[in-house]
Amino acid sequence: MAFLENEVMIERINALKKQLDAVILAHNYELAEIQEIADYTGDSLELSIRATQISARTILFCGVTFMAETAKVLSPDKMVLIPDLQAGCTMANMADAETLRALKEKHPGAMVVTYVNSTAEVKALSDICVTSANAEKIVRQLPGDQEIIFVPDMNLGQNVINSTGRKMILWDGFCPVHRRITNEEIKRRKQEYPDAIVLAHPECNPSIAPLVDEFLSTGGICNYVKNSSHDKFIIVTEMGIFHRLQKENPDKTFIVGSPQAICPYMKLIRLEDVLRCLEKQQYQIELPADLIEKAARPIRKMLELSK
Ligand code: 13P
Ligand code: SF4
Repeated sequence: MAFLENEVMIERINALKKQLDAVILAHNYELAEIQEIADYTGDSLELSIRATQISARTILFCGVTFMAETAKVLSPDKMVLIPDLQAGCTMANMADAETLRALKEKHPGAMVVTYVNSTAEVKALSDICVTSANAEKIVRQLPGDQEIIFVPDMNLGQNVINSTGRKMILWDGFCPVHRRITNEEIKRRKQEYPDAIVLAHPECNPSIAPLVDEFLSTGGICNYVKNSSHDKFIIVTEMGIFHRLQKENPDKTFIVGSPQAICPYMKLIRLEDVLRCLEKQQYQIELPADLIEKAARPIRKMLELSK
């Protein structure tokens, strides 16, 4: 594609969106230029709910592939597009169907609670999905004596164990971006800004809990800040969230918890990729019908229980 000014690309994107009857959904970690052209920006749960409410024929998903797959599973009749198929998720790739099947055989009475950061194949073997916004709420609703296998994020799982007191068998997956964040970094920020509220994503190591005021999903962080009378926040998650926080709260101060918390997959999609995606209707998310049917059950159950 020849070099085009951003304004020209945005004009073309908007024209193609109308032509294709498309809506753009973007995750809170996407580049600022992508969040700016999106119709809706949100966390995994908010975007899954949006996907079920959209009447447009096409969903263009700017996020990682498991999120676009979730949209396809919930809206199989729509065309779901993602501008870059390389936008994966390291954590999602840490859980595979074969190993999960073997673990289920070892624990035949266990319920499989699966974080949406997982492949459609793993979801298809699960009883219920959760996101970082509703994991605690959903686990609390399960019968007290129910054995639970939690897949794939051991940090989110341990944070849920710590807050609910429930026992769970944890998969040993993790997000390398959040794992990199150290207690020392947060201690330093707190020393510099002792009056700031510390908001962290539950994919962080649970050992940071004593330093944190709240563990929240990315959407939860945005809502907390908007409704808070405080004006200073240390934000401990991926850097992309600062665009929305600053835009929505121009008078509040945001301190970076960890500058190296950058998800390379969330930074892949640029304006030219969105334009190419609409022009060529590429890449379409395609999943076999039986996989869609099986993966839809735990996701729909999650949507039901998180109301
Ligand atoms: P949220 O659902 O909180 O936006 O988190 C998604 C994610 O991938 C965090 O790393
Ligand atoms: Fe996956 Fe971590 Fe990137 Fe989220 S931040 S998409 S969990 S690799």
